[in-house]
Amino acid sequence: MLVNFREMLSDAYRDKRAVGSFNVYNYETMRGVLDAAVEMGSKPVILAFGAKYLENMSLQDAYSMAFALSSQRNIPVCLHLDHCSDMDVVFQAIREGFGSVMYDGSSLPFEENMANTKLVCRFAHACGVSVEAELGSIAAGEASHEGSPDDKEVYTNPESAREFVARTGVDALAVSIGTVHGLYRGAPNIRLDILERIDKILGMPLVLHGGSGIPEETIRACIKAGICKINVNTEISSYAVAELSKLVGSPKPPHLSVLALKERSCVDEVVKKYIRFFEAQ
Ligand code: 13P
Repeated sequence: MLVNFREMLSDAYRDKRAVGSFNVYNYETMRGVLDAAVEMGSKPVILAFGAKYLENMSLQDAYSMAFALSSQRNIPVCLHLDHCSDMDVVFQAIREGFGSVMYDGSSLPFEENMANTKLVCRFAHACGVSVEAELGSIAAGEASHEGSPDDKEVYTNPESAREFVARTGVDALAVSIGTVHGLYRGAPNIRLDILERIDKILGMPLVLHGGSGIPEETIRACIKAGICKINVNTEISSYAVAELSKLVGSPKPPHLSVLALKERSCVDEVVKKYIRFFEAQ
């Protein structure tokens, strides 16, 4: 069943666990994520359709497929619009039936990000849709399909976060504490001290972007300190592409339908690993 993420995240925040938000852009990725959630004991899960993937699928197709697939499974599923800086696309996703949207104004000046986010919240909340916003900025690592290589790391300022949330009414806030989109070039340096201060001030669901490659113990520490939604994209893609390349490069490459099945099982495998990391702490 499709739901918005407000309740999903407040339960997770209370129980000190995180809901996985995994990027999807076709049937195979949606099936892989949903199969993993069911196999792991019917966990709530977020299908994150990034504005980046509008060439792969329209918002309407993403909604229709998520609706059909989630109706056949007895788990709460949220179809979420990931990273979108175009307000028209955000409003369109809300109209199509997405359960939550991330308006990403993090590259804008503070006041402008806040004004746009407030507008999105007013419209989304009137339609029963939840909103995530981002404050601070996340850098890009290796193999990222999001952001740009020029993205700079700017940690979220806890005091600005207080003002931002009070004035916009967002349901969840993505924080910048040292994670990157893509794979890490060295060991990740995650600023738990900043996260703890933000959590103390806000006491609300916080989101960690750049989940790929964060060590299990660091993920667990972040969940203890208030993170209850974690986004994973690059590792799923890198793993599936490596496995599919082996098949394509073999002396007798398989039929395309066999590759599609392999893609689905690779997504399922990586998603299960992360769902295990995200369990109650
Ligand atoms: P990774 O690609 O680093 O896993 O980050 C995903 C993400 O944050 C999607 O919004």
